[in-house]
Amino acid sequence: TQNEKESLYIALDFANKYYQDQLWKTPEGESIGQSYFKERGFNHQTIRKFDLGYSPDGWDTFTKHALKNGFSLDILEKAGLSIIKEGKDPIDRFRGRVIFPIHNVAGKAIAFGARILRKDPNSPKYLNSPETAVYHKSYIVYGIAQAKNPIRQEENCYLVEGYTDVVSLNQAGIENVVASSGTSLTKEQIQLIRRFTSNVTVLYDGDAAGIKASLRGIDIILEEGLNVKAVVFPDGDDPDSFVQKVGSQAFKDYVKNTQKDFIRFKTEISLKDVGNDPIRRAELIKDLVETISKIPDSIKRSVFYKEVASLLSIDEHILITEGNKIFQKKA
Ligand code: GTP
Ligand code: MN
Ligand code: MN
Ligand code: MN
Ligand code: MN
Repeated sequence: TQNEKESLYIALDFANKYYQDQLWKTPEGESIGQSYFKERGFNHQTIRKFDLGYSPDGWDTFTKHALKNGFSLDILEKAGLSIIKEGKDPIDRFRGRVIFPIHNVAGKAIAFGARILRKDPNSPKYLNSPETAVYHKSYIVYGIAQAKNPIRQEENCYLVEGYTDVVSLNQAGIENVVASSGTSLTKEQIQLIRRFTSNVTVLYDGDAAGIKASLRGIDIILEEGLNVKAVVFPDGDDPDSFVQKVGSQAFKDYVKNTQKDFIRFKTEISLKDVGNDPIRRAELIKDLVETISKIPDSIKRSVFYKEVASLLSIDEHILITEGNKIFQKKA
């Protein structure tokens, strides 16, 4: 109900302020949380811009504090902040972690991502809020509240994988950036971005997983009628580590000089393992045609058929015929 959602927003806002107070106003927050962000190279202004925080390392520090302030356990649980197990005392979901609040487009906190401070094989690197009445993770991208105006201004949206990529790029002066946050990209996330621009540049991690995720993402972006480019980072780097290594200007130059339209990106990546094997080459061509057939606009489709034809030296008309078959089947 609307009433319950309102209560969740209030509890989430309370938690958001609490985690920030813990970071800035407690000795534990200073010595653990602030030092962590400092090590990551995040400055005060950046931390503030994204409302980053710290959750203390106790079982129920937040839950007790919230109860004392009049919140019901029921609401705290429904907001994803407290965990209740039968026969046990309620505990905090986020304990001893740095906090990345997830805001909706209007800038309200609706969920949290919480990063562990150091590697631990028994604990996930990031813990996220569960789905709640106000948080549907496949409908939101991280950073959209801060990025929406810059995206409009730049007429482009950079799409990255992680929270820290968004934060670092902002610190480097690149503000038109949002993250899919580990989940595979959804059409609803793209529809959200489409409210602000029709151009997306995918900046995923330079590892095998990142490249695979870019390829999947590209098809979804095309289906929603957006233009898409992609950048590959050196293996092992993500936008955060890369910008911290080379600096803001070199990062911008790298993106400008290496970004490729999706078809060139896909063709070059795939050709690396297809080589000259004719059967696999044929499969690749079919795959590329399949991808192009997802573009709703026929003029754009024809431009990309031309490009594939020239990249793979085959007859453009064969591609168009095949592509039209797929396109008509779907229509
Ligand atoms: P850092 O290691 O802090 O630089 O984070 P990262 O963003 O580079 O992490 P990574 O590239 O491994 O993952 C990208 C995004 O996927 C993260 O920002 C998270 O949103 C999500 N993610 C990563 N690990 C986990 C995990 O263990 N659990 C969940 N739920 N999400 C994760
Ligand atoms: Mn849902
Ligand atoms: Mn990765
Ligand atoms: Mn990463
Ligand atoms: Mn990273």
